[in-house]
Amino acid sequence: MKILMVCLGNICRSPLAEGVMRHLVEAEGLDWQIASAGTGDWHINEPADKRSIAIAKKHGYDISKQRARHFNADHFEAFDKILVMDQQNEKDVLRLADEAHHREKVMLFLPENLEVADPYFDDKLFEPVFLQIEARCKQILEEIKAQS
Ligand code: 4NP
Repeated sequence: MKILMVCLGNICRSPLAEGVMRHLVEAEGLDWQIASAGTGDWHINEPADKRSIAIAKKHGYDISKQRARHFNADHFEAFDKILVMDQQNEKDVLRLADEAHHREKVMLFLPENLEVADPYFDDKLFEPVFLQIEARCKQILEEIKAQS
């Protein structure tokens, strides 16, 4: 299974989802590939936002070595699932998809059309965003294991 987590800058939300999900699959001994990317290109090759690194560390995850990448159309073939944090990310990703089987790989990270709020301009959001992402990664792992 190859999963790509996507947000806007690839420095706040999707690096948390990448780090948590990788940690969970490694703990289960699964040979899955987990990565993340941003629809925006401002932060390419930068580490995650220091507030994301700190909240992950507080909860036992090290995301300090991850580097931001820009989402591109090659990712539709490279990954099985492309999980987007909000509806704008979904639109921006789908704009690059011109095949039905690529569009089918794209889904919101949260169920029921919910979005992960962008914490970039609001320090207080990092803790609830982290907890939401961690809980959802655990659910996604169980859902995929149950399907396969
Ligand atoms: P992210 O948050 O999409 O969760 O990584 C953001 C990071 C940077 C910017 C916006 C959102 N930015 O405008 O640079």
